[in-house]
Amino acid sequence: MIPSLPAPGSPLASRIGLTERVFAGPRMRRLLGAVDDGLAQVEAKLAVELRVTDALADATSRYLYEAGGKRVRPLLTVLTAQLGQGVTPHVVAGATALEMTHLGSLYHDDVMDASDVRRGVPSAHVVWGNNVAILAGDLLFSRASQLMAQIGERAIRLQADTFERLVLGQMHETVGAQPDDDPVEFYLRVLADKTGSLISAAAQAGVLFSDAPAEYAGPVLEYGEKVGIAFQLLDDVIDLSADPEVTGKVPGTDLRAGVPTMPYLLLSRSGDEASLALKDVIDDGVARIADGADPAVLDDALDRLRAHEATERTRRLAVDWSVEAVAALAPLPDGPVRDALTRFAQVVVDRSS
Ligand code: IPE
Ligand code: IPE
Ligand code: MG
Ligand code: MG
Repeated sequence: MIPSLPAPGSPLASRIGLTERVFAGPRMRRLLGAVDDGLAQVEAKLAVELRVTDALADATSRYLYEAGGKRVRPLLTVLTAQLGQGVTPHVVAGATALEMTHLGSLYHDDVMDASDVRRGVPSAHVVWGNNVAILAGDLLFSRASQLMAQIGERAIRLQADTFERLVLGQMHETVGAQPDDDPVEFYLRVLADKTGSLISAAAQAGVLFSDAPAEYAGPVLEYGEKVGIAFQLLDDVIDLSADPEVTGKVPGTDLRAGVPTMPYLLLSRSGDEASLALKDVIDDGVARIADGADPAVLDDALDRLRAHEATERTRRLAVDWSVEAVAALAPLPDGPVRDALTRFAQVVVDRSS
């Protein structure tokens, strides 16, 4: 049965209390006003840009947008735009296009990961089948490109370069590490490409499209890349979370689909007998699920992995990347924007959805 859709702004979309936590304190009040205003403009533009005349195309492309989402990427764009002229029309267009790119990637990702729940609702492929879900994602990508084209050549290049990396990240994750690759290093590269690229592009877009000083572009790029890795590592921990009410996803989706997330990779490295035995149980369960067994065969093993120190080590690794992201901000002027970016990096690794 398909549950009714929560309206945009529902608890799932409460952005992990993001704005409240990132913009705490009186020094931040003016900045929060500007950011809220920017996010409202992005939201309004998303509503317009996601309209399609064809009824099926309209319903499918608006589906996940209406289901919620944290809007992490637009938040970063309107925030870094405060380093320049603020939320210009180009900043709004860029933030909207990147969020649409993210949205499109979720449609495809759920097909690839056989993930049946997204943002608390049945994934698009569950409702319309794989073909329509893939095409809806493609539609979002083409709409995003049209929007970037209105900004200009630099925006098109940002979009194209980012999308190439995102796709390669997804492809490398799908193909997996080769015998010469170190699995952990390989996986970190996958995370940088599939997630860091888009988060970094969102942070850069604010600098580029608000005419901020050019010397801020490099630090913001590095920050976005690293905070993106931290974000995705925490996503791996969340993937094991027991509470789908909070995450809006089915626990263990990635692992059940055979994606070797960081907790699993660190488990494999643990070397002690109990850890290797657990790894064998997981491998066996993944193979059985691939042969058609009920995904619940892994429930017990995933509970044990959640309690294993490999999961806590993944969380700590996410914190390390977050600390590095903050260090990349050193060349930015001291002030509320840098403070907010710092807090953002900390909140990203301290969330449950
Ligand atoms: C989910 O991203 C996909 C990843 C790259 C981990 P988000 O966690 O930002 O998803 P929404 O937009 O809030 O649903
Ligand atoms: C999503 O990665 C990355 C992209 C959509 C590019 P995951 O597959 O790890 O994210 P979730 O857990 O489904 O959101
Ligand atoms: Mg997925
Ligand atoms: Mg995936």
